[in-house]
Amino acid sequence: MLDRAAKTFFHLLARSRTLKTLASKYGMRRPESFARRFIAGEGVQEAIGVARAVQNRRMHLTLDLLGESVTNLEEADAATRQYLTVIDAVIESGIERNVSLKLTQLGLDVDKASAVDNLRKILERAEPAGFFVRIDMENSPYTDVTLEIFETLWSHGYRQIGVVLQSALHRSEADLARMNALGARVRLVKGAYKEPKGLAYQKKADVDAAYCRMLQILLTDGHYPAIATHDPAMIDAARNWAREKNVPPDAFEFQMLYGIRRDLQTMLVNEGYRMRVYVPFGREWFPYFMRRLGERPANVSFVIRGIVGERG
Ligand code: FDA
Repeated sequence: MLDRAAKTFFHLLARSRTLKTLASKYGMRRPESFARRFIAGEGVQEAIGVARAVQNRRMHLTLDLLGESVTNLEEADAATRQYLTVIDAVIESGIERNVSLKLTQLGLDVDKASAVDNLRKILERAEPAGFFVRIDMENSPYTDVTLEIFETLWSHGYRQIGVVLQSALHRSEADLARMNALGARVRLVKGAYKEPKGLAYQKKADVDAAYCRMLQILLTDGHYPAIATHDPAMIDAARNWAREKNVPPDAFEFQMLYGIRRDLQTMLVNEGYRMRVYVPFGREWFPYFMRRLGERPANVSFVIRGIVGERG
C-alpha cells in the first residue's frame, strides 16, 4: 500500500491543525471511538491492559508512547520523564519489558546532545531492568543521525537497543551490512514516510523487491532480526527463506502493528512463529494515526463513519 498520491495527501492532512483538533476531540473518547482501532488508549494503564490481551494471545509486545517532532527542550524533557514513568509502570505491571521510541520525541530537532542525553537517561533505567529499547526510524533527514546515535551508544556498551531500516530507501542495503557487522538487532520495515525520488524507490514492486533481498540477508546474517510487515507476500518470502536455510523459528520474529491483520498475527503464532505486536498509546496519536490511513485509504471511510457517529 505504497500509493504515492495517498501518502502525499495524508502527510498534508497530518499537518492540519483543524483536523487534529477534531480528531483529538472525537477519536478516543469512547471505547468504540475510531482511533482506538490503531491506538491502545491515551494513558499507560489502558496500554498495559491492551498489552496483557496481546500476551494472552501468546504474542510479544513493544509499547510505544506516541510523540514526535517536539520543538523545545522542555517538551523533550517532559517526554523523557513520561518514558521513565512508563518504564516504572511496565515493571510494576509484570508485562514484557520492551519499548519503542523516536529520537525527535526526545528533542533531536532542537539539540542532538540533549536528545542523546535523554535517551541515555531512559537506557540507564531500562537496561538494568531487562528492557529492550527499539529506536524507531523516522523520515530520511533523520536516517544518518539516528544510525550515528545508535552506533555511539553501541560503542559505549549499550546492547539492549535496536534499530529500524526501511527497504524503501536506496541506502538501506548498505546500512544493513553495517548493522549486521556491528551485531545490531534490526527491525526491517518498508517505510512509512513519503520520500523523494532521489532517495527512495517509488514503486511498490521495487520497495517489495528490496524488502525481500534485505530479509534474506537478515535471516542469514542478522542478529535476532524482526520482520515487520503485514504483507502476506513478504511473510511467505521470510518463511520460505528461513525453511530453505534452516533458520529456526526462534531465531527471528515477525512484528505487526496493533489493530492490523490480527488474522495473520494469530495464524503465524499458531504455526509456531514469534509475533510481536507494536502497541502505540498516548495523547499525541494524530501523526501516527494519519500514517496508518495513508497506507490504506480504505480505512478513511471507517473514520468518517466514526466521526459522524460520534458527533451525531
Ligand atoms: P503494505 O503497505 O504493502 O501492506 C500490505 C498489507 O498489509 C495491505 O494489503 C493490508 O492488508 C495490510 N495493511 C498495511 N497497512 C495497513 C493499515 N494501515 N491498515 C490496514 N491494513 C494495512 N515505518 C517506519 O518508517 N519506521 C518505523 O520505525 C516503523 N516501525 C514499524 C514497526 C512495526 C512493528 C511495523 C509492523 C511497521 C512499522 N513501520 C515503520 C511501518 C512500515 O514502514 C509500513 O509503513 C507499514 O508496515 C505498512 O507496510 P507493510 O509492510 O505492512 O506492507
